[in-house]
Amino acid sequence: MNSFGNKMRITVFGASHEDYVGLTVAGFPAGVALDQDLIEKRLRQRRGLMHLTSKRFEKDEWRFISGIFRGKTTGAPLTVLVKNSDRRSEDYEEIRGLARPSHADYTQHVRFGGHEDYRGGGIASGRSTVTYVILGAIAEHLLREKGIFASSRMKSVHGIEDEAIPDIVDLERLREEDFPVLSKREEMLRLIEETGKRGDSLGGVVETWIVGLPAGLGNPLFGSVEAQLSRLVFGIPGAKGIEFGAGFGITKLFGSQANDQMQYEEGLLRHLSNHSGGINGGITNGSAVNFRVAYKPTPTIALPQRTVDFIKKENKVASFAGRHDAIFAIKALHVQNALANFAALDLIL
Ligand SMILES: Cc1cc2nc3c(=O)[nH]c(=O)nc-3n(C[C@H](O)[C@H](O)[C@H](O)COP(=O)(O)O)c2cc1C
Repeated sequence: MNSFGNKMRITVFGASHEDYVGLTVAGFPAGVALDQDLIEKRLRQRRGLMHLTSKRFEKDEWRFISGIFRGKTTGAPLTVLVKNSDRRSEDYEEIRGLARPSHADYTQHVRFGGHEDYRGGGIASGRSTVTYVILGAIAEHLLREKGIFASSRMKSVHGIEDEAIPDIVDLERLREEDFPVLSKREEMLRLIEETGKRGDSLGGVVETWIVGLPAGLGNPLFGSVEAQLSRLVFGIPGAKGIEFGAGFGITKLFGSQANDQMQYEEGLLRHLSNHSGGINGGITNGSAVNFRVAYKPTPTIALPQRTVDFIKKENKVASFAGRHDAIFAIKALHVQNALANFAALDLIL
């Protein structure tokens, strides 16, 4: 349940209120020099709008404890630890048994027979996703020499849609931003701030492009590029839907509109549109791999809601004035982008 991969295999461990969260990646190529600045930069982007989101301020101190020798990867499993320093575990002792609606408190309690680490959602917390960001950054080391990169934008926050369509120049710029949006940045930020102040929360859609992948990668059926990306994406807590290319909207097109027509241009095969999201028959077709993920509103909110105490077996009305993200999707964006980089590297290996 906490491992995934084909050519490389990742294993994630640690929980929100344990000393560390961590990740091991086996099969990562040897001889790659670690770019600490890039790792720091990607972590900073994930922390980006923290003042608008959570009051839990983590410094994300990280260190590799295996698989690096003299600053380069050795080919042995790489293990990274990230310290959890800003914990207030006592907050969770007071509410033991009180289920946060739509969080995993109740389901984990049932699944693990009461032995679950309930502090901050335990293994269901978004905290572990910090390790995916480091994974994505080290994958970028190898991708950049092949001209491959992933870039993501906030496609929508609640009802506000980023309408503009990015081109390749925008995508290269967007991947360096903390809050990558083309047309509706200010409106989105205003809504996030207002909603957080009211004690409520928001969801959003994050769109990713993987640019530069050649045609012919991936497998049919269960090994499809869609299947692999989906499994990775559902390793991000709070992801509720994924669609590729034109997605569910493709059902509203005629075949003559939906088909990505093709032609040779100076000897190179080109698709004239990308409704397929760069994938046909589970295999890359040479267009950018394009997908969108729906993240739900942060479940822990400060407004009163009906819930239960599953230990005392009582009905309750509870609000949770903790240190929670008004919208975690804006952090998940950098996590999703990092996993896209990892998936791209796994494919080209
Ligand atoms: C980066 C990140 C940060 C998150 N922060 C919070 C948070 O502060 N409070 C909260 O209730 N949920 C947060 N979540 C969402 C929960 O972890 C998630 O909704 C919960 O585990 C239930 O899983 P599910 O929504 O996939 O069913 C966060 C998720 C991510 C990816």
